[in-house]
Amino acid sequence: MSGPLVLALESSCDETGLAIVEGGRRIHANVVASQVALHAATGGIVPEVAARAHLRWVVPVMDEAWNAAGITWDDVDAVTVTYGPGLAGSLLVGINFAKALAWVHDKPLVGVNHLEGHVYAAWLLDPREDERPEPPFPLVALVVSGGHTFLAEMRDHLTYRLLGQTVDDAAGEAFDKVGRLLGLGYPGGPAIQRAAESATARDRVFPRAWLGETYDFSFSGLKTAARRIIDAARAEAGLADQPDVSLPDPLVAELAWGFQDAVVDVLVTKTIRAARATGARSIVVGGGVAANAALRQRMTEEAAALDLPLIVPRPGLCTDNGAMIGAAGARRFLAGERAGLDLDARPSLPLATR
Ligand code: KG4
Ligand code: ZN
Repeated sequence: MSGPLVLALESSCDETGLAIVEGGRRIHANVVASQVALHAATGGIVPEVAARAHLRWVVPVMDEAWNAAGITWDDVDAVTVTYGPGLAGSLLVGINFAKALAWVHDKPLVGVNHLEGHVYAAWLLDPREDERPEPPFPLVALVVSGGHTFLAEMRDHLTYRLLGQTVDDAAGEAFDKVGRLLGLGYPGGPAIQRAAESATARDRVFPRAWLGETYDFSFSGLKTAARRIIDAARAEAGLADQPDVSLPDPLVAELAWGFQDAVVDVLVTKTIRAARATGARSIVVGGGVAANAALRQRMTEEAAALDLPLIVPRPGLCTDNGAMIGAAGARRFLAGERAGLDLDARPSLPLATR
């Protein structure tokens, strides 16, 4: 493999990630310090707490990645960093650290869109993974994270045509909210997956919001329905007036399964329909919710039925990490993009679509 060697930083939300990536694909090091345990205590992210944790962890994460990669600054072609979307305070920690590194070592600085990073995670190769072809264009990309849910068509690198997006909650947000309703704690996604895996009854059907033939998504109605179904289940279990008593595990499992199935059904159906309608030659999926085993399995089955190559990164590369910023950052670097030392956080940065 060849191509630029980039140092990549991600700090937009609650993971401090730093990676060394070669040619936009090969991971040399990828270290992530997760704040999950920290935010579990408050049942969600407190932005100031997140920013302080990035500040606490960015140097140790850098040291670990640097030692793992075994490189020198002479080898590094650029410093790439997420500048949005995300939490302003969290973004600023990564941006300022990246600026300092770029300035001190006289390296170009490249700003990266976090959402583009989730798409480009599909190009990554682990350190000892065999070479495999790049996802062929045109392709359909589904990004499902805690803050975003969209489907886009890519006919070439770095160009996106938005096909549809959520009109209310992001898929991950829905997982987190329903996880809380089920008493499963934060973050809800992995907890709902675990609970659903132990479901023995699968009789409770949750509603699907199809929004006609569009590629848009809506999850807020599902959340409201989940609240209603969970309240009904509590009443059935005689727990209606005992809010501190949790539902029995088998019931939680059944509800988790029903909710997860509804989300997966809509995500997969729309992605497959988009792939067929646009004549896609492959599908890529990214973002934290793409770590979900049920989503991965159903998408794999349906893509295989159409003989469409599907690339879903391993779960650790679906959730936030530095390597995905190195993958997208290298493409931006090769396209000639450079950021100045005035690069600022863009909390609501949209994906650059045409
Ligand atoms: O991409 P990500 O790490 O951060 C954002 O950019 O938002 O996504 C985090 C989201 C959270 O909502 C989390 O609950 C969800 O991804 N998530 C999952 C799973 N793992 C993480 N959702 C469903 N199943 C999972 N296994
Ligand atoms: Zn993300």
